[in-house]
Amino acid sequence: MPATPPPAHDGADQNPTAPRPDSSRGTLGDAAVVPAYAPVPADRPRRRYAVVGTGHRAGMYVGAITGEHADVAELVAWCDPNPTRMAYHDAEAGAALGLSGPAGLPTYAPEDLERMIADEMVDVVIVTTPDVRHAEYIARAQAAGADVVVEKPLTTTAAGCRTVTESVAATGRDVVMTFNYRYAPRNSTLREVVAGGEIGDVTSVHFEWVLDTVHGADYFRRWHREKASSGGLLVHKSSHHFDLVNWWLGDVPTRVYASGGLRFYGDANAAARGLGPRPERGTGVSGDPFALDLRSDARLDALYLQAEHHDGYLRDRDVFTPGITIEDTLSLVVDYRRGATMTYSLVANGPWEGYRVVVNGTEGRAELDVVERGTVLLDDDGNALLDPSAQVDRAAQAAGAGGTHGAGGAGGEDPRLRPNGERLLVQRHWHAPREVPIPAGIGGHGGGDAILLKDVFRRDLRLSDDQLGRAAGYRDGLRAVAVGIAGNASLATGQAVRIDDLDLGEQL
Ligand SMILES: NC(=O)c1ccc[n+]([C@@H]2O[C@H](COP(=O)([O-])OP(=O)(O)OC[C@H]3O[C@@H](n4cnc5c(N)ncnc54)[C@H](O)[C@@H]3O)[C@@H](O)[C@H]2O)c1
Repeated sequence: MPATPPPAHDGADQNPTAPRPDSSRGTLGDAAVVPAYAPVPADRPRRRYAVVGTGHRAGMYVGAITGEHADVAELVAWCDPNPTRMAYHDAEAGAALGLSGPAGLPTYAPEDLERMIADEMVDVVIVTTPDVRHAEYIARAQAAGADVVVEKPLTTTAAGCRTVTESVAATGRDVVMTFNYRYAPRNSTLREVVAGGEIGDVTSVHFEWVLDTVHGADYFRRWHREKASSGGLLVHKSSHHFDLVNWWLGDVPTRVYASGGLRFYGDANAAARGLGPRPERGTGVSGDPFALDLRSDARLDALYLQAEHHDGYLRDRDVFTPGITIEDTLSLVVDYRRGATMTYSLVANGPWEGYRVVVNGTEGRAELDVVERGTVLLDDDGNALLDPSAQVDRAAQAAGAGGTHGAGGAGGEDPRLRPNGERLLVQRHWHAPREVPIPAGIGGHGGGDAILLKDVFRRDLRLSDDQLGRAAGYRDGLRAVAVGIAGNASLATGQAVRIDDLDLGEQL
C-alpha cells in the first residue's frame, strides 16, 4: 500500500482515542465529494437547535453551529442530567461566538425536554445521548413538535425501532441520521465504483474491521461495555459498517448468523492470561498501555473527571474489570435481498487500526484497504499515546534513535513501519488492476465530518442532486441497526435470524 502521510492534526472534535482518518483531514476541495450550496437567502430565519446529551460527540455539532453554520443555525438550549458537561459546552459556545464569557444558554433536565422545546421554540433537537436513549428522544422530540438529528445508532433494540417508526408515522417529522462514514471520500469513491457497474452485479462482500488496543479498548471503559446501554459493538460500532454495505450495494439485509464473544478484555480473560490485580480506573495509573488517565487530556478532564461527582459516570474504568457484557470479537454471515452474502469480522484488540473491504461482482472485484493507525505507540513510560498526531520523530527514527517505543504511526520513511494509507483497486476479469484515485476531503475542521455537517445544516440549499445518496434518514438507520440487532439475537440463540422476524415496525 502506498504511504499517504496525514496532514497535521487540526484539532477538530474526535474521540481522542480514535485515529484520525486521512479523509477527515484533507485540505483540498474536490467537486466529486464536496457539493456546492446556494447562498443563504437574506430573509431566511436561522433554525433553532437544542442539544440533548452534552458529552464528547455534542462538541462536533456545537462547533458547527457556532462556527461554519452560524448563518443558518443557532443554539438555544442544553438538555443533560449533568450540569458540568452542559457548562463546558456553554463555555465553548461562548468562546466560539466571540463572547466575553459563556453563551449563557438555558439548561434543562431530561424530564423537561418537552418544556424546553416549547419555551425555547426549538426547531430541531440534536440527540447525542448514550445509544439506548436515542429512540425515546426521537419520539419525545417529534411529539413535542421538533425535527431530529440523531447520532448513530438509530436505536439498540427492535422495540426502539418500533418506537421510531411509530413516531415518524404519527408526526410526519424528520429524522436525519448522521452516518459520517459515508462522507469519507474513500467510502464515497467505492460507492461510485459499485454503482457505476464496473464490477457487475455484486455476488459477495468480505469486510474486516480492526480496532486497535487504544481505540478498541475505549469501548470497554464506560456505558458502551454494557449491552443494555449500547447494544454491544454489533450495534454501537458496526452499525457504521453495516450502513456502508447497505449503501454501497444499494441493498437490504435479510438474514444474519453471528458468532463471537469476549475473548480479550474483561476480568476472566485477564485472569486466564495471568495479568494480576487490576486498578478500578486508569486515572492515576502510569506505565500501563490499557489505562486512560483523564488528566492527560484537558477535554477529557473537563468533560468527565470534573463532572463525575454529579452522576458517578466513570469514563476511565479499567478494561479488565468485571461487568462487561459486550463482545470484543465478532464474525457474521449476512445475506442481502438481491442475492449477495457478506462475511464480516470485527476485533477490538488489534495491534493496528483500519479496514479491508472486498466487493466481488459478476464482472470483477473492488478492494479497499485502509490503515488508519499502523501501530499503537508507547511513550517512554509505557503509556499508549492518545494523540495520533504525536507521531514518532521520524527523522530521529530513520537515524536509529526513535523517541518512542515501537515502530509505527503515520511514518513512511522506515520500511519496518506499516504506513497509514488507503488504496482502492478495481480489477475486471481479464484486465490488469486499476488503482482508483481517492479525492481529498475538505479542510477547515475535518473532511468527512465537515461534508456531513454541510448536508445536515444546509441540505435544502444544495445546488446539485445528492448523486451518491449520502444523506441518510431513519430508514437507513433501521437497515443498519437491523443487522446488529439480528446479530445479537443470533449470538443469543446460536441460530441464523431472519430480519423480517424481528418486528422492527416496518418492512425494510
Ligand atoms: N458518528 C460517530 O463517529 C460518533 C462518534 C462518537 C460518538 N457517537 C455517538 O454519539 C453519542 C454520544 O456519544 P459520546 O461519546 O458523546 O457519549 P458521552 O457519554 O460522552 O455523552 C453522552 C451525554 O449524554 C448524557 N446523558 C446520559 N443520560 C442522559 C439522558 N437520559 N438524557 C439526556 N442526556 C443524557 C450524559 O450525561 C453525557 O453528557 C452516542 O450515541 C455515540 O454512539 C458517534
